[in-house]
Amino acid sequence: DVPSISVDPSHVISRINDNTYGGFTEHMGRCIYGGIYDPGNPLSDENGFRKDVIEALQELKVPVVRYPGGNFVATYHWLDGVGPKDQRPRRRELAWQGYESNEFGTDEFLRWCEVVGTEAFFALNFGTGTLDEALAWVEYCNLSSDTHYANLRRKNGREKPYNVKYWALGNEMWGPWQVGQMTKEDYAKKAYQWAKALKLMDPSIVLILCGETGHSTWDAYVLKECIRWDLHGLGGDMTASLIDMHSIHIYTASKEHVKNAIAPRSAERAIEITASLIDLARIENKVPSSVPRQGICFDEWNVWDPARAPGEEGAEEKYTLSDALAVSVWLNVFIRQSKYISMANIAQSVNVISPLMTTKTGILKQTTWWPLLLFCKYMRGSTVAVHVRCEEYDGPTEPLWIRGTVDTPWLDVSAAIDDQGVLSMAVVNVHETKSFSVDLKGIKGPVDVYTVTGSDVACVNTAEESAVGISETKWDGNGRFEFPKHSLTMLRWTP
Ligand code: AHR
Repeated sequence: DVPSISVDPSHVISRINDNTYGGFTEHMGRCIYGGIYDPGNPLSDENGFRKDVIEALQELKVPVVRYPGGNFVATYHWLDGVGPKDQRPRRRELAWQGYESNEFGTDEFLRWCEVVGTEAFFALNFGTGTLDEALAWVEYCNLSSDTHYANLRRKNGREKPYNVKYWALGNEMWGPWQVGQMTKEDYAKKAYQWAKALKLMDPSIVLILCGETGHSTWDAYVLKECIRWDLHGLGGDMTASLIDMHSIHIYTASKEHVKNAIAPRSAERAIEITASLIDLARIENKVPSSVPRQGICFDEWNVWDPARAPGEEGAEEKYTLSDALAVSVWLNVFIRQSKYISMANIAQSVNVISPLMTTKTGILKQTTWWPLLLFCKYMRGSTVAVHVRCEEYDGPTEPLWIRGTVDTPWLDVSAAIDDQGVLSMAVVNVHETKSFSVDLKGIKGPVDVYTVTGSDVACVNTAEESAVGISETKWDGNGRFEFPKHSLTMLRWTP
């Protein structure tokens, strides 16, 4: 059987939210200090922000960046990080067992977002933090009133509110490593009460509930308890929900190439299950259709093997071509599931489990940078239906359960049509040794072809040698197209 891929440009499935290409910067390892903030370095601007990092993130058009954690946020007091720098307290940092100078805090991050041209997304301290502190943070960032914390912002040099829209109700509160770990019952109760108060402070904010993997009892429970509409008609608005999105986190990795590249397919199933749990909560709680359906905020995703790159050591992963293909499959998953994805944030944006690494003298773009760049540039607009017919991988997977729940064709495909009417199709051939000559139906030349591959699945980019990058060619659209072994190919044409 000749493998085939059929694409129908008129079969538009759903809009791809630009926030799918979000970032994440945590006070962890060299992400903030030495990553985005490096005062005194000739590569930094007058704020101490690394200009090469800013340019790289602008190239990706990163629309939103999560901050300040991650696990870090569970003991973070935002007031430590505002005001005169010489008066900011130095503290022990418990999540990653380091020290925090607080030299970089709220105003620095929000200024950095403005320079980059991105939106801020703050995570609230659900560990040692109080609701009063959280309310004060929202007031400091968003209110124009003549009140204490809004005035503190003015005193610190910022008249206009920052209008931070996205706020997360804690981070991984289910995790045994988390300071302030909770039961699902305790979390749901607290999250709902905090959400009510936070929306009373600023009804325009978007609140994100802390989920787990999307397919756990925690997810089912907290959704059921918090996605309601009948208890908070405060201010008279009965059409909104306190909770706007549900967050999930998954990292994938395997030492074996095929398992590594296929593992992100488990995230696809997790998204479908989460969407069903959201719908189930709405059905059981009789939430009317006038309340917009809560989307999924996949605010930590990536390839990460904590044994290979431990968190306490800054998690500086060295990514291989196999990892770049896994990231390509991850991104295909988000495009295919765009109907449910309101936001996704690669964890993380610089140095820590990141495609982008800084040195004192420049930046290094890892293997995973190149698929991310292609998707950020081209896979925008709306998802388009594709049908793939090819042989399947039928060996063991990590996690084990994927094989029983999703298809695993050797060619992993998604397609999008942008607002200019250009169609982009991303095809990942995860096979380590075999190329596939494919009958492409619905394609029309001339076609721009972008390929990401390398000599073998283990190759990495170093300061001395870029083993993986993007090569560009053209194709007239006639005959079969050959997708090389272990590669990502992006085809672009105007239908
Ligand atoms: O991104 C690294 C860490 O992974 C985050 O701090 C935490 O939320 C997750 O466990």
